[in-house]
Amino acid sequence: MPSLLSADFANLQQSIEQVPDADALHVDVMDNHFVPNLTLGLPVVEAIRNVTDKFLDIHLMIEDPDVWAPGYAEAGAESVTFHLEAARAPVRLAREIRAKGARVGLALKPATPIEPYAELLGEIDMLLIMTVEPGFGGQKFLDLTLPKITRSRELISKAGLDIWLQVDGGVSAETIERSAEAGADAFVAGSAVFGADDPNATVSSLRTAAAD
Ligand code: DX5
Ligand code: ZN
Repeated sequence: MPSLLSADFANLQQSIEQVPDADALHVDVMDNHFVPNLTLGLPVVEAIRNVTDKFLDIHLMIEDPDVWAPGYAEAGAESVTFHLEAARAPVRLAREIRAKGARVGLALKPATPIEPYAELLGEIDMLLIMTVEPGFGGQKFLDLTLPKITRSRELISKAGLDIWLQVDGGVSAETIERSAEAGADAFVAGSAVFGADDPNATVSSLRTAAAD
């Protein structure tokens, strides 16, 4: 799915219309504290909600998601992902987001292991393995995250859970294939999509590469 981080922030509606074949839109919320970058917040997500029926996948890179995340579910986002490293009470927060009718995503930075948090898998709908350090688009995919993708898929299968395994950061035709082989089944691409001459065709070609 395309990340709007690499879209034209002065023309978000136009950027959304450039990718009609996308299954979903990934929206990166950054607060200049959890990550050293500042993007957009709830009012802009509400405005995006007003101009598209697409599945909105909100990726919160913010401090205090316990306070802010439920508001994104209330705004009509289909999925709300918060970072484990920032959450004070991840189980309570996951339940609160679900109670508001959205899917729950749990994100891990590249150096955060999955094993100590395996118990949380029963509380979530999606696990996001960051494949770059969060904060900026256009970074290089970190190969060191591949074994974690494989181990996460194993843990999910062993528990018999139906959880999407998403990768975000440095996703290209080449890295999407390797991520899919490792076990990922949801893919975020920012610069690869909006940096291309034909963003919509790139969405399709990335989907094909993931399925190969
Ligand atoms: C980075 C964001 C990503 C970003 C990915 O912290 O979470 O969603 O848009 O950008 P690319 O695909 O350019 O690495
Ligand atoms: Zn993201």
